[in-house]
Parts: sequence; C-alpha cells; structure tokens
Amino acid sequence: MAPTHGNGFQVPSPLIPNLPKDIALNSGFAMPVIGLGLFRVHGEDVRDLLFHAIKVGYRHFDCAAKYKNEVEVGEAFVEAFRLGLVCRDQLFITTKVWNSDHGHVIEACKDSLKKLQLDYLDLYLVHFPVPTKHTGVGAMASVIDKDGVLDIDTTVSLESTWRSMEKLVSMGLVRSIGISNYSLLLTRDCLAYSKIKPAVNQIELHPYFQRESLVKFCQKHNICVTAHTPLGGSTANTEMFGSVSCLDDSTLKGLAKKYRKTVAQITLRWGIQRNTVTIPKTSKPERLEENFQVFDFELEEEDMKLIRNLDRNYRTNQPVKFWGVNIYE
Ligand SMILES: NC(=O)c1ccc[n+]([C@@H]2O[C@H](COP(=O)([O-])OP(=O)(O)OC[C@H]3O[C@@H](n4cnc5c(N)ncnc54)[C@H](OP(=O)(O)O)[C@@H]3O)[C@@H](O)[C@H]2O)c1
Repeated sequence: MAPTHGNGFQVPSPLIPNLPKDIALNSGFAMPVIGLGLFRVHGEDVRDLLFHAIKVGYRHFDCAAKYKNEVEVGEAFVEAFRLGLVCRDQLFITTKVWNSDHGHVIEACKDSLKKLQLDYLDLYLVHFPVPTKHTGVGAMASVIDKDGVLDIDTTVSLESTWRSMEKLVSMGLVRSIGISNYSLLLTRDCLAYSKIKPAVNQIELHPYFQRESLVKFCQKHNICVTAHTPLGGSTANTEMFGSVSCLDDSTLKGLAKKYRKTVAQITLRWGIQRNTVTIPKTSKPERLEENFQVFDFELEEEDMKLIRNLDRNYRTNQPVKFWGVNIYE
C-alpha cells in the first residue's frame, strides 16, 4: 500500500526513501509539497479536473478569490466528499484575499468560505502586498485610474491587513496564514509587526527566476516558500504576458533525457529539492499525472548546480501589462 502522510496524501511507488512529501509549517500543520494550481481553470472544467486530481493523489489545492472559480471548486469538493473520494481533513486548501479587499479581510474570507462551502481554510494568503480601491467584497475589480495606472489605496497599511489575517486564526476560520508576492524587505517587515508569523510566502519561482536571496531569507526565518508559476507559466503566460517559459530550455531537455523524465518533471523535482512547495496548474488529465510523478527519482547535486546556473532573474507573470505600474519596483 502507498504510504500516507498526516493529510492522507498518497504518493506513488517506487519511492526513494527520505524524500519529503510534505513540509511542516511554523503553524504546526503540514502542507503537501505538490498542489494543484487553479488559476485559469474554467468553471465548467473544475469538477472533472478536481475528481481526476484527487484520484491521482493530489491533496493540496491552490485557489484564490481572484480566479473566480471558487463556487465551482466548492461544488466539486462537496460532491467528492459525498461520493467518499476523500474527506475534508485529508485536504489542504488554500485561498487568497484579493487586493481590493485588504480593508475587508474578514468579510472576504467569509465570502470565500461560503463559495468553497468550507468551515475553515488550511491556508489564507494575502495575494499581493498591494491594497487597491475597494469595489465591494468579492467583486475584485482592479480599478485603473484615468492616467492608466492601477488605483492603489494608500490609506490601508499591510500591518492592518495582517492584523485581520491574525484575527481569522483566532476566529477558527483559518489554520495558517501567509503572504504572497512579498519581497525580501516586505517579508522582513511582516516578521517585525506580526504576532502570528506568516507560515508561507508564495512567490513566482522556476529555473529562470530562482530568487535565491528571498528563498533563503524565508527559509532561515521558518517561512515555507511555495513556488507559484513553477513551470514558468508555459504557454498560458506566453499568451497572457508574452513571456518565455523554461520548458523549452536545452539544458533541462538534456536532464529530462538523462533521467527519462519530462522537462516539467525535472523542473518540479528541482523545486522540491530546494525545499519549496510547488503548485503547477494543468487542465489536462495526463499532465495531472505527469506533474505528480516526481517522487520516484532524485536529481544529483551536480544537476541541481547545472539548473542553478540557468537563472535569468526573469519574471514571467508580469501584472504591469494590465496595471500600468510595476509593483515590484
Ligand atoms: N500568488 C500569485 O500571485 C500567483 C500567480 C500565478 C500563479 N499562482 C498559482 O500558481 C499556480 C501555477 O501557476 P500558473 O498556472 O500561472 O503557471 P504554471 O503552473 O507554471 O504553468 C501552467 C502552464 O503550464 C502548462 N503545463 C502544465 N503542466 C505541463 C506539463 N507537464 N508539460 C507542459 N506544459 C504543462 C499548462 O497548460 P495546460 O493547462 O494546457 O496543461 C499551462 O499553460 C496557479 O494555478 C496558481 O494557483 C499564484
């Protein structure tokens, strides 16, 4: 029988002993190192995709209010529970508060819980460190000013956002809280003002965007790092942002050949061996399986170094295209 960890997360055999299948968070809970990202998954595709993912062994799902599919995700979970595919306490479910709801975190979280039909979240993240004009809880508009630039709200501090995140824990609505897209210095700041330390920083990470300083800083301070966009967004980000993914990289292709794996599997395995959690998105059943089959091999140290040298400091998810302002400056 395949081994199971605390969240009921099953991993395929054969396994290499001592490779991590989950990561302990500073909140005392464990997070599976692979999750399914649900950005750009259309509502009508959610049910079949989630069912298939659960059957493959995924127990970790990365949602966000902004993905506008929480209702469909919630319906799929309810049906999966009813059919006995999985129990709620075997899942690790994350969602995120959108920029326009920084001043309304409690209501936004309750809105997500209602849509997802859940009593609690395993992890709630501040999606971006960028409070913007409030447009109504759950409305999640990104209002652009007359000058073509995102309407950033300068009256809401990130500290006040975090106080509300902490309150959600004491209310029992959320088990762990975290941040997303926070730089090293914003993360430092959060550590200084927090009573409950962020359990996670979810940031873009892949071989072309390795962010060694930020990853090491977070890990040194016991903040788990989750890699979003772990495949560099592939064709989805090429279409949305015009960016280039690492999946066509010749070095990674060479490693894929060496290990008899796909480039996606090499890339995801590299992320896991950096002690980061990874949440690739796919809408294709065969890729769900492919992306999960990364526990039966280990990249040698020399190959980890080879990938280390591929870093281009290259961000593929570039909201400046829509917001008229580079929030990372
Ligand atoms: N916190 C944030 O601000 C933030 C930002 C971005 C993403 N995220 C989270 O991170 C998750 C992943 O990021 P992402 O969806 O932007 O990008 P990604 O997972 O790096 O890449 C997704 C793209 O890769 C393709 N793909 C998936 N598996 C593949 C494989 N084995 N071989 C070749 N292509 C493959 C997908 O196409 P198909 O679907 O056609 O397979 C899609 O085009 C999101 O879903 C979301 O949960 C968070």
